[in-house]
Amino acid sequence: MYVLRNILLLLTFLGVIAQIACYIVEPGPTVRATKGAVWPKPQRQISSDSFYIVRPQAFEFRVVAENCDLLQNSLQRYLDIINGSTVSQPISKNLVQKRHYYKPWRADKNFMGYLDTLDVLLTDPCKDIDLPTHEMKEQYILNITSEGTGTVLSASTIWGILRGLETFSQLLHATDEKALQINCTTIFDFPRFSHRGLLIDTSRHFIPMIKLFKTIDAMAYNKLNVFHWHITDDQSFPYQSLKYPELSEMGAYTSWYIYTPSDVQKIIRYAAARGIRVVVEFDTPGHTRSWGEAFPDLLTPCYANGVPNGQYGPMDPTKESTYSFLQKFFEEVVKVFSDQYLHLGADEVGYECWESNPDIKEYMEQHGLTSYRQLEDLFVQKLLDIVHNLKAKTIIWEEAFTNGLQLRNDTVVQVWKDWSIGGWKWTTYRATRAGLQVLLSACWYLDHLSNGGDWQKYYDCEPTDFGGSEQQKELMKGGEACMWAEVVNENNIESRVWPRASATAEKLWSAKDAETKQEAAKRLEEHTCRMNKRGIQAQPPNSAGYCIL
Ligand SMILES: *[C@@H]1O[C@H](CO)[C@@H](O)[C@H](O)[C@H]1NC(C)=O
Ligand SMILES: *[C@@H]1O[C@H](CO)[C@@H](O)[C@H](O)[C@H]1NC(C)=O
Ligand SMILES: *[C@@H]1O[C@H](CO)[C@@H](O)[C@H](O)[C@H]1NC(C)=O
Ligand SMILES: *[C@@H]1O[C@H](CO)[C@@H](O)[C@H](O)[C@H]1NC(C)=O
Repeated sequence: MYVLRNILLLLTFLGVIAQIACYIVEPGPTVRATKGAVWPKPQRQISSDSFYIVRPQAFEFRVVAENCDLLQNSLQRYLDIINGSTVSQPISKNLVQKRHYYKPWRADKNFMGYLDTLDVLLTDPCKDIDLPTHEMKEQYILNITSEGTGTVLSASTIWGILRGLETFSQLLHATDEKALQINCTTIFDFPRFSHRGLLIDTSRHFIPMIKLFKTIDAMAYNKLNVFHWHITDDQSFPYQSLKYPELSEMGAYTSWYIYTPSDVQKIIRYAAARGIRVVVEFDTPGHTRSWGEAFPDLLTPCYANGVPNGQYGPMDPTKESTYSFLQKFFEEVVKVFSDQYLHLGADEVGYECWESNPDIKEYMEQHGLTSYRQLEDLFVQKLLDIVHNLKAKTIIWEEAFTNGLQLRNDTVVQVWKDWSIGGWKWTTYRATRAGLQVLLSACWYLDHLSNGGDWQKYYDCEPTDFGGSEQQKELMKGGEACMWAEVVNENNIESRVWPRASATAEKLWSAKDAETKQEAAKRLEEHTCRMNKRGIQAQPPNSAGYCIL
């Protein structure tokens, strides 16, 4: 007892000491930002102390090989970003800043002169309008040499050039009110995973176009390349269909909260210009209550005490009319969204309503179906066949796989459950062992908040850490951060997503274990200010700090 009390006293004492220690705080930011460091971290980078000064007004890109409108527009976009990267606030007066940050550059022995051009060397022909594909190559080389010649950004594809332009713009950092500094650097860079996505849910809350554009801008700043548009769900149906306009007329929250065909094309083109694919998800057979406002026959009426109780469950898998509707609907979707992949959802199908319905029961008896899971499989299989006949490839949430459905070998399984038995690792192990490609999201649910700067938990997740053979690991295609929108709308989407999704972006682009969290924190401090400077309302990543704007 006595010993125990002494131990407790000692622990209390240590606790008090620890608290006192915490109260000793230096002036200035908790995590000091890097200067001109790249996010996500390049695969290989050699930099030196020699540096140039870039004067935005005098700077230009020089296209030395292939050219097209897509390239020209990108160069103009980055000229604007570079011009906007200078700071308007005096940056060397404040004590904290002077102590830690800025030195006059003119007198520095490492100052090599002015950099007024960057050669852009694209070797494959590019098209004026082009759409990125899941096979796009994003590799590039950026060489800022100390000789002043051979300063070049080169890539075989326009997509590689886009990633390299982003890197170039990030190497530039303000050094006084008008000048940007760039260190001599050689970067050889390519993504670790080909699918690096962000899911945005536009059903739980409608997200206006302007916020979607900004989201896509920020994705480009983080080298993400798939905009996963979870466009409809139970709560609302904002997609305006050409064939079935009633869906959004009845199913959208209001007549303003819709995406017209022209809106959808704008998003696709805006994303493509930044090397980003738009993969749309129309989730079925669950998560479809909003479809039923215009077309109640698609859904299963739920029964109580032998009579319909006015509620509706998942789509009715027993009716031919359900499939002929979906056939026509997806014919349109495949044409409107030009990506090779469609996301079909197939998650979280509840069986209660099917169980209550006598017609469903009768159908199952007639067709020898002994479980509701078999009924679900029947639906998913028929839908997969419809979509495959339309020449689209499919992504589905993990349930279709874990339910034991026989999936075509080119189906991509998106793993999202972290609490299933064995967690995401076991699901991923099994799916890849079955020869299926996998996307990981389980670690990256942006709607799950924790205290303080909470990007670190996203940074801790390693996609290939699920056991399995090398062959299985090859089937891990990347992943997506998911922004479910129950409590997210236009007012907080930017700050909730950024810079938290930046952690996912780096895990998916950079080499395995490229960096520790301590190193990443400094770069993320700078990267967040960079996003702020470009108009993205990213929240502070770490703790106390400031940005110079
Ligand atoms: C860039 O150059 C400056 C000054 O010459 C040097 O202090 C800094 O460490 C260099 N940065 C990198 C990343 O090499
Ligand atoms: C560059 O930015 C300044 C303000 O920082 C602005 O006055 C000027 O018009 C911009 N120039 C170009 C070419 O965009
Ligand atoms: C970068 O430029 C330097 C100096 O011109 C040259 O030696 C080096 O080979 C170049 N590196 C790449 C990857 O192009
Ligand atoms: C799927 O199977 C076909 C035929 O066996 C094969 O040619 C193809 O490479 C497989 N695709 C994948 C992604 O495994």
